[in-house]
Amino acid sequence: MARLPIEWSSPTRIRMHARDYLAFAGCNYLGLGGHPVVIDALAQAARSMGISTTASRETTGNTLSHEGLERELAAFMGQEAAILGAEGYTANFMALQTLALTHRVAIIDAHAHRSLRHAATAAGLHVCEFEHLSARSARWLATQHADSGVVILTDSVFAADGAVAPLADLLAVLPPHRSTLLVDDCHGFCVLGRGGRGAVEAAGLTDPRVVITTTLAKGLGCYGGAVLGRRAFIDSVQQQAWVYRSSTPVPPALAEACRAAVRVLSQGDELVQRLRSNIQVMREVLFFTGLPMPPDGVPIFTFAVSDEARQQRVHELLLEAGVFAPLIEYPGGPAPRYFRVVVNAMHTHDEINTLGKHLLRALDVTRDQRPARRPRPPVEDAEMPDIRVLERAVMEQLG
Ligand SMILES: Cc1ncc(COP(=O)(O)O)c(C=O)c1O
Repeated sequence: MARLPIEWSSPTRIRMHARDYLAFAGCNYLGLGGHPVVIDALAQAARSMGISTTASRETTGNTLSHEGLERELAAFMGQEAAILGAEGYTANFMALQTLALTHRVAIIDAHAHRSLRHAATAAGLHVCEFEHLSARSARWLATQHADSGVVILTDSVFAADGAVAPLADLLAVLPPHRSTLLVDDCHGFCVLGRGGRGAVEAAGLTDPRVVITTTLAKGLGCYGGAVLGRRAFIDSVQQQAWVYRSSTPVPPALAEACRAAVRVLSQGDELVQRLRSNIQVMREVLFFTGLPMPPDGVPIFTFAVSDEARQQRVHELLLEAGVFAPLIEYPGGPAPRYFRVVVNAMHTHDEINTLGKHLLRALDVTRDQRPARRPRPPVEDAEMPDIRVLERAVMEQLG
């Protein structure tokens, strides 16, 4: 797939080939990546501390900015402790290098993010897949390996289909001894739970066997990664995970930007509420298309349109109308190539309606690319919600 030639972007706009588009892309769920307080924190700290520590934290590269962020992140997410990694990908390697000291088997959701699978394999764990989202399938494997030290690995929210993992059910199938549930909360942090505290908080899990990893580059809008959990486990990551010990940390200025973003979230849930209200509007708008919906509270809408030529045409028609709805190729989605449309807290209701209007129209005018099943009335200008157009689109989608 060709890369996008992005010249400039904001949480809701993207510029390509000198044209601005209304965009429903990326994972800047709360718009914190463009928040003035966060940007100021980054700029000020970069001016005073420079860019890089140029050394690992366990030699001469530790700063109070890193330690402060770890404390504040753990407190926000209701965990005893946190440790930073260079990114979310590395955070999974840190957690699994440490878990491999006491666990032998990783039981992983078939659609889990590559970083979890790579980290488990690189750490020397025996990796077995369970059926996507199936605690029943995980239970069967966990029972087979009950005495080996089992870690269950899952994303909280799956980026490619918007599904939410059954965390409580997965925890319930852990063997009683030497077992861990590792939740990669990259797409749940800042989205699910009270004030965006993440999927583990949303599921009400306080079990000491739960370990969380996350990126700081999506909902938080910054850069970096973290492992969170019980103090004893985080201490052992610090002492044992060489991927952490032998690498340069996230720049201190970015740690300060993350601290500012966490402060914004701690001070109130306005952004999270805006995101939730926008998700609701998006659901109402897309309902009329008959396209599949993610679970409530998830801002990721993925869908494929009947055949490839029509799908490409829908994408182009949206671009012609000034709307960018990403058409991506990424594993785990509903088709090899599919739309991944993301609403964030910065969109206005009008902008979401604009997407809905143009998507409906694009689906409607491309109907001819499929074999016609019944004569259809002429297409009218769908200024917004014209119920006849909406009904026709639903009927079309339902076949
Ligand atoms: C579920 C999941 N885990 C891990 C990562 C890696 O995080 P990062 O981009 O911070 O390395 C990503 C995304 O990029 C992700 O979607």
